[in-house]
Amino acid sequence: MDNILIEKIKQLKKEKNAVILAHYYQNDEVQMIADYVGDSLALAQIASQNQADILVFCGVDFMAETAKILSYDKKVLLPNKNASCSMANMIDAIELMKYKSQNPDTVVVAYVNSRANIKALADVCVTSSNALKIIDFYQSQNKKILYCPDQNLAKYAMKLRGYNFDAWHGYCAIHNNIDLKRVKEIKAKYPNALFIAHPECKLDVLNLADYIGSTKQLIDFVNKSSSKEFIIATEIGVLYEMKKNNPEKKFIPLSEDLRCNDMKLIHLEDIYNCLLNESNEISIDIKIAQKAKKSLDKMLELS
Ligand code: 13P
Ligand code: SF4
Repeated sequence: MDNILIEKIKQLKKEKNAVILAHYYQNDEVQMIADYVGDSLALAQIASQNQADILVFCGVDFMAETAKILSYDKKVLLPNKNASCSMANMIDAIELMKYKSQNPDTVVVAYVNSRANIKALADVCVTSSNALKIIDFYQSQNKKILYCPDQNLAKYAMKLRGYNFDAWHGYCAIHNNIDLKRVKEIKAKYPNALFIAHPECKLDVLNLADYIGSTKQLIDFVNKSSSKEFIIATEIGVLYEMKKNNPEKKFIPLSEDLRCNDMKLIHLEDIYNCLLNESNEISIDIKIAQKAKKSLDKMLELS
C-alpha cells in the first residue's frame, strides 16, 4: 500500500469536502480507503443522504449515475471513466419504448444495473437486495410486470414465487458463465462448505445454493452463520469484506475467473487524480435525471 498516496487522498478529501463510496467488488486497496463500502442499494441510499460536496464513486458507471440522479446538486466523479457494466448496456431505450407502446399496462421494473435513460423510462427500480419485495408488491396488485435487463434474476423470482412475467434478455456475463460442472466439482471437494450465490447466476446454479442474496446479504449471511466454510458464487471482490470480518472462516471462490474487469479498473492513483483534477464528472440531462429519480425514489420508498 502506498501510504503517501493515501495521505494525499485524505488531504484532498478534507480540502474538497469529498467522500469515497466503493462497491464490494472493488479492488481491496480501494475498499480499504473508502469512507463507505456497500452493495448497490446501500450506496444509493448513502448517495441520497450524504452532505459532502463531491462523491467519488468507485464502482461502474450505472452506480455513479444513480448517485448523481439521487443528489443532482453534487459533483459525482467516477475515477475511471471506462468502468461500465455490460449487463446495463444490454438494454436499449428505443427497444424499451417500443415494448412500452405495445404493453401500456405493464409496470416496467428496472434493475438498478441499467443506464439513466432506462431508469427514466421505468416505473420503479430495484436492486438485488429488494427485487423480490418490490416484485411481490406489484404482483399483489395483480400488475403485469416487465423485469429488465437481467433475465436471471427475473427467472429466479418467477421460480421462487411461482410468478409469470416478462423478462428482458440481458445478463451479467460473469455470473451467467458459471459452469454447473464446476459448481458440482467444488461442492464435492468441500462437502462441509455452504454454497452461496448472487441471484444474477443462472437457475441451474441457484438451485444448488444454500443461500442466495445480494452482495451485502451474502456478507451478512457469512457473518451470522455458524458454518466455517463457504463456496462463493459471485465476484471475488466480496472476499475482502468476508475475510476481514471472519478471519477464522474459510472462503472458497468458485473460480478466480469470477472477476468483473470493469470493477477492477479503479486504483488509488485514479482516485487521487480524479479528486485532484475533479475529472470524470458524471453529467446527466436534467429531464432524464428527474424522470429516473422518480423510479429510484419509488424503489427507496418500497424498500
Ligand atoms: P449488488 O446489488 O448485490 O451489490 O450487485 C451489484 C452487481 O453489479 C452484481 O453483479
Ligand atoms: Fe455488471 Fe456483472 Fe460487473 Fe455486476 S459483475 S457490474 S452485473 S458486469
